[in-house]
Amino acid sequence: LSRGVATPDLSGKSVVVSAGGTREYLDPVRFLGNRSSGLQGYALARAAAARGAEVTLVAANVTLPDPAGVKVLRVETTAQLRDAVVSAAAGADAVVMAAAPADFRPVSHSDTKIKKADDGSAPAIELAQNPDILAEISHDRARGGQVIVGFAAETGDATGTVLELGRAKLARKGCDLIVVNDVSGGAVFGAADNQAVILGADGAVTDVPLGSKGALAHAIWDQVLARMP
Ligand code: CTP
Ligand code: CA
Repeated sequence: LSRGVATPDLSGKSVVVSAGGTREYLDPVRFLGNRSSGLQGYALARAAAARGAEVTLVAANVTLPDPAGVKVLRVETTAQLRDAVVSAAAGADAVVMAAAPADFRPVSHSDTKIKKADDGSAPAIELAQNPDILAEISHDRARGGQVIVGFAAETGDATGTVLELGRAKLARKGCDLIVVNDVSGGAVFGAADNQAVILGADGAVTDVPLGSKGALAHAIWDQVLARMP
């Protein structure tokens, strides 16, 4: 799929994309985080802008330059990501959750740097579960006809294959589409290329062969557009 000059088939549409990985701070210098680079979310934002959409990109700890013609909101924690996505979603025709929110946050946060104990002991970190943004915006739709997309990075395990786990996650979240990535080798993180299967709540299965993150982004917007009223 090559698009020299993109067709403005998303013009008049307002979309929200989240990207990157959230951080949950233990103290002013340490955090729990993940390996998300933000590349796929930025590719989604660029592709939507190229197709004429008004794009809000909620970026969590991404070091990439702002895409041209895109409104970028920067956040750090899952709570901040939730607030930014929920408020941007209020006026959106589509929301794509490409970000990797930290699932857990430390129950307590120290305002000063945590110091080592002299006796060689290590602190125990108690964690609390973060809110599920995708499930929240899917279950409390901001407007009728809004198309909501999630991602599922899966390795497959004793309970199911990558695709089975993706299908179950789609149902659990209540979104319209889920982009399933096989991350068994840890290869997608920071990589230029991506390969995925896009599953629809309507039963649609779209295989996207290994290609650029931009090509996957366009394939995702094709599926979103097909479901817009
Ligand atoms: N997601 C979210 N809020 C969270 C966690 C995840 O909105 N607190 C979104 C992600 O942006 C992604 C989708 O949900 O689009 C799936 O993320 P994933 O981490 O695979 O799902 P989890 O429900 O956290 O399940 P798991 O236990 O497999 O991590
Ligand atoms: Ca998770």
